[in-house]
Amino acid sequence: MRLDGTESSAICSFPDHFIYSGGASHGHEIRKSLENLFRATLRDILYAERKILKALPKMARAAEAEDLKAGFKKHRDETEVHVERLEQVFELLGKRAQGKTCPGIDGILEEGEEIMDEFKGAPALDAGLISAAQAVEHYEITRYGTLKRWAEELGMKDAVTLLDQTLQEEAVTDEALTAIADASANDRAKKAA
Ligand SMILES: [Fe+2]
Repeated sequence: MRLDGTESSAICSFPDHFIYSGGASHGHEIRKSLENLFRATLRDILYAERKILKALPKMARAAEAEDLKAGFKKHRDETEVHVERLEQVFELLGKRAQGKTCPGIDGILEEGEEIMDEFKGAPALDAGLISAAQAVEHYEITRYGTLKRWAEELGMKDAVTLLDQTLQEEAVTDEALTAIADASANDRAKKAA
């Protein structure tokens, strides 16, 4: 639901009663609201990670350059651990690890599929795959950054550690993708097919 009560396809999985509704005497409500928001966002990123886990082997198969293929495979293995860490955070909350459809990541991954189709066999394919993968990483970085901050606010130290580990890995992956683009993929993309 949107704040105005209409259905939203752009905002994923936020509960309709998270809005802060009081002054300083409403500390309990603030906490409850933040916990709800935290859990809703966890469900969003759990759905996203599971989708990414399925998409990465396809991207590894599609990539031309060996270093990019290897990078996607490595990140696929890391993503398996990302899912496990999220399951652990749900455990800390005493909740079942259940994802919720996120149209945001669905759209980003769809664009990646389009690039794979449209640039198949073209010199620009790898540069396009890198751009798609970086859109995914940036989505994850914003989610994990927020979740880590909220876990700190909620005093969930173990969750902070778990979320931060994943956040660091997403950032390293993003940098590795930039390095591959700079070293080879962008130059190759400039060549005529
Ligand atoms: Fe991830």
